[in-house]
Amino acid sequence: MTLTLAEGSHVIYALQKTRRYKVISIDNYHNSHPAALSRVAQLAKDNLPPNPAEFEKESTVIDEYKCDLTNSDEVRAVFEKYGKGGIWGVIHIAAHKAVGESSEIPLTYYFNNVVATISLLQIMSDYDCTRLVYSSSATVYGTPPEIPIPETTRLRADSPYGTTKIMCEQIIEDLCHSEPKRWRAISLRYFNPAGAHPSGLIGEDPRGRPGNLLPLLAQMAGGRVKDPVLKVFGNDYPTIDGTCVRDYLHVLDLASGHLLALEALSPDSNVFDDCEGPRHKAYNLGKGKGTSVLQIVEAMRKATGYNFKCEVIGRRRGDVPDLTADPSLAERELGFRAPQDLETMCRDLWNWQTKNPQGYAGV
Ligand code: WQD
Repeated sequence: MTLTLAEGSHVIYALQKTRRYKVISIDNYHNSHPAALSRVAQLAKDNLPPNPAEFEKESTVIDEYKCDLTNSDEVRAVFEKYGKGGIWGVIHIAAHKAVGESSEIPLTYYFNNVVATISLLQIMSDYDCTRLVYSSSATVYGTPPEIPIPETTRLRADSPYGTTKIMCEQIIEDLCHSEPKRWRAISLRYFNPAGAHPSGLIGEDPRGRPGNLLPLLAQMAGGRVKDPVLKVFGNDYPTIDGTCVRDYLHVLDLASGHLLALEALSPDSNVFDDCEGPRHKAYNLGKGKGTSVLQIVEAMRKATGYNFKCEVIGRRRGDVPDLTADPSLAERELGFRAPQDLETMCRDLWNWQTKNPQGYAGV
C-alpha cells in the first residue's frame, strides 16, 4: 500500500498505471482540489484492460482522507485504519513551496514543512511503515558553484523554504542512520516541473494568481490572469540572454521518477547496496537542459499563439541565475529518464488551460 500526500495527482497517475498499487491520499486541499482525485481515478479506470482482475479494479480506487499533516491525531487515525505494517510506503509531497512567501512567513513554513514531517515520520515508525520517498527541491543548492549540478554539491539554501527542505532531508538521514536495518528513504530534488497529463483532465491549479512562470503564462494566454505584460525578473544574469535559466521537465516524467524511487525501496532493489551507513539517498530529477525565461516565453507563444508582452523589472529576491541538473545519478541508479521536450510541456499545459479555463473550480 502506498500513501501520497498533497496534490500529487500525476504521481497517483503513475502509480495507478501499474495497477499494482492501492493509493491512500492524505491532503488538506490547501493548494489542491479533490476533483483531481476523482479525475485521476477515472483515468485509471479508463486504462483497465478488458476483464480486469479484482486487484486491478481495486487499484483504481483511491482511499481519500482530508486531513492536515500537522494534526497528528488525524494522521494517526488514518494509519490506525490500516494497522501495523498495513501501509507499504509513503510518498511525502506535502509542503508550502513558494520561495518568496517563505521569507515573509518563515514560522508557517518551518511548522508546516518541518514539524509536519517529524510528526509523519514518528507515526510511520509507530506503524512499522519505514519506506519513504520525500519530495525535496533544487532550491537546496542555493546558488550552486557548478552547473550542471551534481547531488554531491554542498547544500545551502537562500530562503526559509529551501532551508525546510534541507532540514527535512537531514532529519530523514538521521532517522535512517539511527535504525539502518529498518528505514529506507529517497529524497527527490525536483527541478522545475511543467506541463500536464495530455488528456487535460489533471493539471496544476494554484490558488490565486500563479507565482510560477509557466502557469502564469498559460493563465495570461487564457485570459484568467488579466496582466497586460509579463514582468521579467532581471536580464542582467550571467546567462545566455541575461534572464534566469531553469531545468524544466514534464510533470509526468517527474511522476515516473517517484514510481522508480518507490520501487527502489523494495528489498529486491540493489540501490542501497553501496551504502555502508544509512539507507537514504538523494537524486536530482531534471532533464539536464537549461532554458531561459525568454526562451520559455517564446515556447509558450508558439504553443498558445498568444503574443506576450514583456517588461524587464528588477531581480526577484531569492532568484539564482541557473539551476540546471546533472540527472545522471538518477538515470544510472533508478533508471530515470525525462524524455519529453519543452514543446510537449507547453502543448500539454495549454491543453489543460483551455480545457479548464478556471481550473478545477469550473468542474
Ligand atoms: C522561473 C523563472 C523567475 C515569474 C519554482 C518553485 C520552487 C521549486 C522550483 C519545488 C525565474 C522568472 C517568474 C514571473 C519571471 N520547486 N519569472 N516573472 O523560482 O525556479 O522555483 O520551481 O521546490 O518551489 O517556486 O520557478 O516559475 O517561479 O520562476 O521572470 O512573473 O521565471 O525569476 O527565473 P523557480 P518560477
